[in-house]
Amino acid sequence: MKTWEELEKSCLNCTDCLLSETRTNVVFGSGDRNAKLMFIGEGPGEQEDLRGLPFVGRAGQLLDEMLAAIGMSREQVYIANIVKCRPPNNRDPLNLEQDACIGYLREQVRLIKPKIIACLGRVAAMKIIRADYKITQEHGLFEKRGDILLTATYHPAYILRDPRKKPDTFMDMCAIEDQLSLL
Ligand code: URA
Repeated sequence: MKTWEELEKSCLNCTDCLLSETRTNVVFGSGDRNAKLMFIGEGPGEQEDLRGLPFVGRAGQLLDEMLAAIGMSREQVYIANIVKCRPPNNRDPLNLEQDACIGYLREQVRLIKPKIIACLGRVAAMKIIRADYKITQEHGLFEKRGDILLTATYHPAYILRDPRKKPDTFMDMCAIEDQLSLL
C-alpha cells in the first residue's frame, strides 16, 4: 500500500489517459485525511483545473452551503473526484477515463478509511455504488459495503440548474448527519 506522499506524487505525474494532455492541474483531493465522511464528485471543472483543488467553483460554494447546513466545513471532510483531471468542456468522464483513474480513489479510500462515502451526482454514484444506480429514486438511502456506508445525493451543479432539488438535498444531508451521530 502506498503512502499519501507516494500516492499524491504518482497521481500528480499521471499520464494514464488523454485527460492528462489537456489538464492545467491534477485535482488530487483535499480535506481531512482522517475524516469519517468523504464526498466523491465526478471530475474537476474549469476553476478546479486552474487551482488544483476540488469543488472551488460555483458548485463548490453550494457544497460548502450543504455542509454548513449540517454544521460542517470542508476542512472536516475529505473531498475527491472519480477522475482527477478535467474532462474538456466539462463533459462526463468516459468509462475509459474513469477506469484509468479509479485506482487513485481506491487508494485514497484505503488510506482515509471513511465511515461514510457520499457520492455527489449520478456519475459518481454509478461508479461507486452500482452501475444501474438511479439518483432520483435512491438518493439519500444508505447501503453498507464492508465497513463503509455508501450514499448519494444530487450533484451541486445539478441543484444550481434545478433549485427545486434543494429540499431533497437538504434532507439527504440531514440523513448523513444522523448517520454520523450514530457512529
Ligand atoms: N464538479 C465535480 O464533480 N467535481 C469538482 O471538483 C467540481 C465540480
